[in-house]
Amino acid sequence: MKLSEILAPQNKLEEIASEDLRARIDRAKGHRKHVARISRPSERSDFPELFVDVPPTWPYVDIAPLYDVHRGHSRHLDGLFYRHISWMMSNPFLLTFDGGDFSEFASKLSVASGVYEQALQPDRQFEDALLIQAKLWRKMLFKLPGNHELRAKVLGLDIARHIATWLGIPYFPDFCFCTIRFAGNNFRILAHHGTGASTTAGAQRMAARKMLPWARCFDVFWTGHLHNSLVDVVYQIDHDQKTGHAFERDALVIIAPSYLGYFGTYAAQKMYPPGMPGLLPIRLHRDGRIDASVHARGRRL
Ligand SMILES: [Fe+2]
Repeated sequence: MKLSEILAPQNKLEEIASEDLRARIDRAKGHRKHVARISRPSERSDFPELFVDVPPTWPYVDIAPLYDVHRGHSRHLDGLFYRHISWMMSNPFLLTFDGGDFSEFASKLSVASGVYEQALQPDRQFEDALLIQAKLWRKMLFKLPGNHELRAKVLGLDIARHIATWLGIPYFPDFCFCTIRFAGNNFRILAHHGTGASTTAGAQRMAARKMLPWARCFDVFWTGHLHNSLVDVVYQIDHDQKTGHAFERDALVIIAPSYLGYFGTYAAQKMYPPGMPGLLPIRLHRDGRIDASVHARGRRL
C-alpha cells in the first residue's frame, strides 16, 4: 500500500473518504430500483419480519443466498465466487440475501491463527463488502450477521449493520422471517446464520433442524455456518385459516455451502471434515412447489 493511501488528507478525512466511497457505491448500484418490492411491517411487530412482493409476470423465483463467503481470507475461493456472482447478476428472476460471514474480519480476538490468514485487512474488507454487495443490491433482500461480523460487535461495532445501512438493505441481527409473495403463494423463509461446530452428518442435520420445534409454519429453514451442503425435506401439515381444512405444506431444511477452501485453514488443522463450496439455490414455482439444487462438482475419470 502506498503511503498516500494510509495518510489522512488534510482536514475532514471522513467526509472526503466517505464521499469517494459513496460515489463508488452509487456507481455499483447503478441508480436503479429494486427488482421486487420489499416492506417491513409496522414497528409494533414483535417479530423480525420482512415481506417481498415479486412481480406477477415472473415465471418462477430463484433464491440464491450468499453464506460464508469469507472475503479477505487467504483461502477464499475467488474464481468460483465471481463465476457465481456473474450468474446471479445475469439471472433476471433471482433474489439473494447475505446470510453472514461475507467477510473474514479476523482480529486478535479470533480463534487460533486466523488473524494471520487474511489476504485483505478488515478495514479493506469493509469497503470490499460494500462494493460487491452494491452490485447485487437490486436483488438483495436483507442482511444477517455471521459470527465473523459479530467479532467486531465484541468491541461494540456492528459492522454488518453499518454495511446494510450504507447500502440501504434491511438488516436483522439474528433471525429473519421473510415471506415471498408470488403467484398467490406465501413462501415463508426463516433464515439465520447458524451456530455450533457439528462435524458428523447426523449432528449437522440436527443442527439445521434447531428451529423446527418452535417455528411453525415455515417453508424453508435456512442456515449456513457449517460450510457444508444439506437439503432435508420435512413433511408438515398446515390449516387453511378460512376453511379450517388441513393441507400438506412440506418444508426444506437447508445448510448452505461456503466459499472457503479447506487445506491450509483452521478447519483442516482441527480435522473438521472438508465442506462443500459454492451456492445452494432454490426455485419457487407458481404452483407452490420448491426445488433445491445441490451440486456435486468434480471430474469423473
Ligand atoms: Fe459462521
